Amino acid sequence: MKRYLVQTFGCQMNVHDSRRIEEVLEADGYSHADDPSLANVLVVNTCSVREKAEHKLMSLLGTFRPLKEARPDLVIAVAGCVAQQEGEKLLKKAPFVDLIIGPDNIPELPDLVHGAQSGAPPRARTEFDLVAPEFLVARPRVERPDITAYVTVMKGCDERCTYCIVPYTRGPERYRPEDEIVGEIVRLVEGGVREVTLLGQTVNSWYDPSRPKDRRDSEFAGLLRRIVEEAPDLCRLRYTSPHPRHVTPELLRAHAELEPLSPHVHLPVQSGSNRLLKRMLRRYTRELYLEKATALKGCREGLTLSTDIIVGFPGETEEDFLETLSLVREAGFVSVFGFKYSPRPFTPALKLGDDVSEADKDDRLQRLFAVAEEQQQAHLRSLDTTRQRVLIEGRSKHGHFSGRTERHEIVHVDAPEGVDPIGEVVEVDVVRANRHSLNAVMDGATYTPSPKPKGPRRLPMVSGGGSAQGAKL
Ligand code: 5AD
Ligand code: SF4
Repeated sequence: MKRYLVQTFGCQMNVHDSRRIEEVLEADGYSHADDPSLANVLVVNTCSVREKAEHKLMSLLGTFRPLKEARPDLVIAVAGCVAQQEGEKLLKKAPFVDLIIGPDNIPELPDLVHGAQSGAPPRARTEFDLVAPEFLVARPRVERPDITAYVTVMKGCDERCTYCIVPYTRGPERYRPEDEIVGEIVRLVEGGVREVTLLGQTVNSWYDPSRPKDRRDSEFAGLLRRIVEEAPDLCRLRYTSPHPRHVTPELLRAHAELEPLSPHVHLPVQSGSNRLLKRMLRRYTRELYLEKATALKGCREGLTLSTDIIVGFPGETEEDFLETLSLVREAGFVSVFGFKYSPRPFTPALKLGDDVSEADKDDRLQRLFAVAEEQQQAHLRSLDTTRQRVLIEGRSKHGHFSGRTERHEIVHVDAPEGVDPIGEVVEVDVVRANRHSLNAVMDGATYTPSPKPKGPRRLPMVSGGGSAQGAKL
């Protein structure tokens, strides 16, 4: 039996890509191994957004080295952003690696693995699919349908925020045709998926690539409307990550009018100081961001916001950081992902130096987290004793079920004896606010199990391209 193991670092896009890597290998006769020592192919799907993620890769690869020495026929592949960034150079740094494979080269993996097994020298394949971009489609899980799924709507990034390596590792923006996106979602919902998260580096800049060049403003709100119309059984629709400059009046209207659209938006701000926003080339001011954040919150009762923030960007003073803290308070984020600035190869910010000391970065990150934690706690406590609708995604450790509210809070749910609500949206009464989650009791009286999806379990392809597994459209 041929076995693979894929280890993933980084963002949702990488989680999505890892599933596609698994699928192309499964289509080639591989099955999943629980342990690296049992695998014939080991893939590390990497992140290079911060240097720390790269260090993690190198130490993981170090643990693979003895496996390769003991079993020379083992194939080790490095995929994802570090693969794209380093290419052949990585083969020199880690000579026991067989394959380097960029995010757009995943379909080539089985052939490359065969080549390596037949004695071909180590290879790096890191070509962007600029002319005919491919968006790999999820293979439906027939035996155990997924409850939630990611669907890519665009890839790459043209923004060029001065600190960010993504435009170099994921390439220029490429957009997926509307019919393909909607077709994939309709088939996922027919197969039992209840919640879809649309993915893209600047997801809300989406437009249909068949539109004339002069009409290529964001058409993201129209896409959301079409998805909701054509997949009426979809319970929840999310998207990540939007860029604030593409939060259009149409998108605000969509939030006000589309019931399945989650009343939670992760809207990266990065800094609250106009001086730094300019240096970061974020293309908005603090005032414009706050205007859009307030408008979003006004669209729907209870809409919450979360964000990403970088502390210690070159030139950040205490005053700049205080502006960030005040913005966090003013926007009322319920959750904040905070990062210490990390200089990245190729990025314009490299020439600004890295002049904020590690101690100041640590101190600012801690103060940021303290404010964020306070706001998260206040928010969770405000939900105590309320009734919520929770999509149950699985069992939680303590014998309860766990799921998420329509915004995104994690809820541990006590269900009546004999009820298995996995995959269902159920009404619950919140009984406790924990540090990062809620406890609740399910209301058995309002619960009627919905019929399991009747649609085709084997999902047909929208168009001819690709194999049945991990198909490309
Ligand atoms: N240093 C620190 N954080 C970074 N991010 C992106 N590039 C860097 C960098 N060089 C953060 C941003 C982004 C998130 C995914 O990672 O906050 O929104
Ligand atoms: Fe990076 Fe900015 Fe593009 Fe986001 S929008 S991926 S932070 S360059």
